Amino acid sequence: MLETAFTRLVGVTVPLQLAGMGSILSPELAAAVSNAGGLGQVTFAGIPADEAKKRLDRLAALTARPFGVNLLIPYFDEAVFELASRRARVIDFFWGDPDASLVRRVHAAGALASWQVGSAAEAKAAEAAGCDFIIAQGIEAGGHIRGRLGLLPLLSEVLDRVSVPVLAAGGIGSARSVAAVLAAGAAGVRVGTRFIVARESNAHPDYVKALIAARAEDSVRTDRFHVECPLCPSTHGVLRSALEAADSFEGEFVAEADIGGERRQVRRFQGTPPFKAFSGRIDAMAQYAGQSVGAVTRVQPAAEIVAELFAGVSAPSRSEPVSVSA
Ligand SMILES: Cc1cc2nc3c(=O)[nH]c(=O)nc-3n(C[C@H](O)[C@H](O)[C@H](O)COP(=O)(O)O)c2cc1C
Repeated sequence: MLETAFTRLVGVTVPLQLAGMGSILSPELAAAVSNAGGLGQVTFAGIPADEAKKRLDRLAALTARPFGVNLLIPYFDEAVFELASRRARVIDFFWGDPDASLVRRVHAAGALASWQVGSAAEAKAAEAAGCDFIIAQGIEAGGHIRGRLGLLPLLSEVLDRVSVPVLAAGGIGSARSVAAVLAAGAAGVRVGTRFIVARESNAHPDYVKALIAARAEDSVRTDRFHVECPLCPSTHGVLRSALEAADSFEGEFVAEADIGGERRQVRRFQGTPPFKAFSGRIDAMAQYAGQSVGAVTRVQPAAEIVAELFAGVSAPSRSEPVSVSA
């Protein structure tokens, strides 16, 4: 139990939000993180409402604790949004201008709203839109990167400008980094890469192996995985090996899957990360990874990852964020 403004607001016991991670996130992984005391999440992006409902039913069957639904603005779907707002504790948005009308609708449905941001200006806009908490994403992150600053400079700027709780995201893989951002004034952390290899995750086993073999230096920022990508142009944190494999691949499609009876093919340099349903050149798919990948060493239950991230971490001695007068 580690109490912060985030845990009090959301009703969890560990100040951790599982990062949105597309179809890498299974209901099983979200439930395991919630059951371990954090805020588990599922992402709904580009999936129909009936599939979203199935995943929510499964998640609700696996945990009675609070969970969130992560939505990407470029994939916004009215039916999925309505459904999720009624069932989740938190609706978590990413990749779009903070939108007060959406936040009002989340609140009207009885949920909290959060927004992941990449700059202090975006954080201020999220607060002004009524968000209950904000996530500051540094460029150390895996997946799509919203801003241009490293986590600590960004976190400092954001904490100086908003008064809602702020979580830190990007490159956080160890208890040391959790302790560091809490000491800096963050109300918690949002972690992605470390959970890709959780036993409950939906990541393809070859992707899991590549992450385990990688060092922190193998996470590179690129803008190359841009094909059919509504979040592009953007930079994204991926494994160098995936970038090299896609570069030297000569065909049009790197992988394919049968999803709900439909054959789906993934083009070279398309941004879909490799989840279990895919076969083909998994090594050449978008193997997103943050600089936290150096802390990924083995497949573990999600609850064990949560415990490791908070081992020996206590609440910072100040209950208020550090403030420095000019
Ligand atoms: C495989 C992967 C997929 C991601 N997909 C999403 C997504 O669907 N929605 C979202 O809000 N963020 C997404 N992100 C970014 C995360 O929200 C978060 O900023 C990032 O994981 C934090 O850095 P870390 O991976 O070093 O912990 C993704 C990250 C990864 C690694």
